[in-house]
Amino acid sequence: MVSPKPSLTMLFLYLSFVFLLPCTARGFGHLPAVNTGSWNVTSIYQLGDSLSDTGNLIIESPNGVASAFSRLPYGESFFKHPTGRCSNGLLMIDFLAKAFGVPNLNPYLNKDAVFTHGVNFAFSGATALPSESLEEKNIVNPVTNSSLSVQLDWMWSHFNSICYNDQDCAEKLKNSLFIVGEIGSNDYYYAFSQGKTMKDANSMVFDVVQAIIEGIRRVIQIGATKIIVPGTFPLGHFPAYITAYQPKNSAIYSKQRLLNDLSLYHNNELKKRLQLLKQDYKNITIIYGDYYNGFTRLLKNAPRFGFNGTSDLRRACCGVGGELSFYPTRMCGARGVPVCANPDGYVVWDGFNLTQKAYRILARWLFRSTVSRLFKSS
Ligand SMILES: *[C@@H]1O[C@H](CO)[C@@H](O)[C@H](O)[C@H]1NC(C)=O
Ligand SMILES: *[C@@H]1O[C@H](CO)[C@@H](O)[C@H](O)[C@H]1NC(C)=O
Ligand SMILES: *[C@@H]1O[C@H](CO)[C@@H](O)[C@H](O)[C@H]1NC(C)=O
Ligand SMILES: *[C@@H]1O[C@H](CO)[C@@H](O)[C@H](O)[C@H]1NC(C)=O
Ligand SMILES: *[C@@H]1O[C@H](CO)[C@@H](O)[C@H](O)[C@H]1NC(C)=O
Repeated sequence: MVSPKPSLTMLFLYLSFVFLLPCTARGFGHLPAVNTGSWNVTSIYQLGDSLSDTGNLIIESPNGVASAFSRLPYGESFFKHPTGRCSNGLLMIDFLAKAFGVPNLNPYLNKDAVFTHGVNFAFSGATALPSESLEEKNIVNPVTNSSLSVQLDWMWSHFNSICYNDQDCAEKLKNSLFIVGEIGSNDYYYAFSQGKTMKDANSMVFDVVQAIIEGIRRVIQIGATKIIVPGTFPLGHFPAYITAYQPKNSAIYSKQRLLNDLSLYHNNELKKRLQLLKQDYKNITIIYGDYYNGFTRLLKNAPRFGFNGTSDLRRACCGVGGELSFYPTRMCGARGVPVCANPDGYVVWDGFNLTQKAYRILARWLFRSTVSRLFKSS
């Protein structure tokens, strides 16, 4: 679980991410220069789910439900071995860390890891709501109980162990960036896969967003001053969600539209609550990370980015079954499940999670759309 030794490939990836990638598509031009004179990011703290997990789940349960991503082809395109990242290679957080000049974040559960440049608390399969709250809604998280509140407890004890007092923590965290999410999509996924309706899912939005807002308050109490809070992707483009959501009228088109509406509802609630939160914390920079529109632009410009694996961009690179290459009981990583020859031609990696190529493009978008605002106020 140690981050790989700097290699030529890595150097190239970093350079190409920051400077060289041909940005043919509109809206993805050059990255703004980071003004390191007025403010530096020296560490990053990440909370979230499999979009950002760099190894926690497979350390906690190497032989559990998630053992599939402790096997190849997970990791095949970059590390050449599985790291616990739910993709063929690097995740958005890896690209973001590089862009800020910070080494890859180690997973919190790796007790041998060095945490001088931040910690990754994100956990694949994690929900925003604690398992007990989900159970009150008759929903079980079959993957992990390490929800956002558990990750926050870890964060709390991490800083308790490295800070002498609040002032010391504030000093240590002066140049830190906190990323709270993406988290919450799994809450809806488990609801659908356990027979809940769209009405049920919509009725969860308030509580899910509330859990995220409480999480941000705790992160601020710890000493965070710069926080990015991503919303969800348009879930109607993910094979796993399209498959799990089983309404009576099950035309794919109508399912996609309703799932995307759920994402929009969640994101709008989140944005509204962030506005209110900012009034309570005038000197804290809180920025919404617009994953929804980042993903929509990626799809719109897919051919120009070189996504050419299939005419159906929803189709997974790794998986079997039906028109989306996704079947919940035979997922990527299971014996005999095929993987495409050119992952860089695909947006979706395994039905839930995206390819390294898609994450690189999305990270660039996130960096571009947030970095100037992060640095503005200092
Ligand atoms: C930012 O980092 C650079 C290089 O390490 C350093 O020279 C500069 O003083 C730092 N700026 C602040 C505000 O800490
Ligand atoms: C990524 O995939 C894993 C299973 O492959 C799943 O547990 C997780 O929820 C997925 N993440 C997202 C954000 O959908
Ligand atoms: C979550 O916690 C409950 C209660 O302690 C336990 O029964 C369950 O097995 C745990 N689930 C996972 C996925 O670890
Ligand atoms: C933000 O403002 C609060 C109250 O006005 C103050 O206690 C806190 O120290 C400030 N934090 C920073 C980072 O300036
Ligand atoms: C598809 O895209 C990938 C990555 O951009 C590229 O390596 C590959 O050559 C392309 N294949 C075709 C048939 O255009």
